[in-house]
Amino acid sequence: MKFFVDTAEIDQIKELNDLGMVDGVTTNPSLIAKSGRDILEVTKEICDMVSGPVSAEVVALEADDMLAEGRKLAKIADNIAVKVPLTWAGLKTCKTLSDEGTMVNVTLCFSANQALLAAKAGATFISPFIGRLDDINLDGLELIEDIRTIYDNYGFETNILAASIRSANHMSDCAKIGADVATAPPNVIKAMANHVLTDKGLAAFMADARKAGIKIV
Ligand code: G3P
Repeated sequence: MKFFVDTAEIDQIKELNDLGMVDGVTTNPSLIAKSGRDILEVTKEICDMVSGPVSAEVVALEADDMLAEGRKLAKIADNIAVKVPLTWAGLKTCKTLSDEGTMVNVTLCFSANQALLAAKAGATFISPFIGRLDDINLDGLELIEDIRTIYDNYGFETNILAASIRSANHMSDCAKIGADVATAPPNVIKAMANHVLTDKGLAAFMADARKAGIKIV
């Protein structure tokens, strides 16, 4: 499973990218607003740093306007994936941009039917939002499973990009199901390293090393 990092914070992307943990980056208008940066500038900086796909989201609602924004975003770099919402206008924009050879990430997906439409429209990525479904007592992981089954049934090449990931468990669950990509905030990716038995074991090893006076350098 590929790891995308879901942030527009340059320092945080760099730290994970230097460790080889970043296969791509996703942003959205809320993350750009949080960064306080200009969307074109910060997106260019991210594209220069990361070789994988970098999602940048349109803010228009009508198809013609979305297309103009998408084409402008696509010019930032070759690794841009234009992010469009899962609306009828977004699907139209997806089809046109995909036909032009631009990667498209269709976002705000909450049902298997929406994912089916995005695949038919030629999306490179479909972004089902797990956490937001869990928030309303629906099962986000079940949606990932359903989309995996449907795409595999028909050989759709659209990549399942699990989004709205809130916990380290979401990451391993998505990997078990077979999501192609999971995008998560940096703190969730770092939390994947945590285990209480690792901490406990390390404390015991350090105590014994101190007692024995072990020195290596
Ligand atoms: O990738 C989509 C993500 O940014 C949404 O996450 O936590 O706001 O639901 P969240």
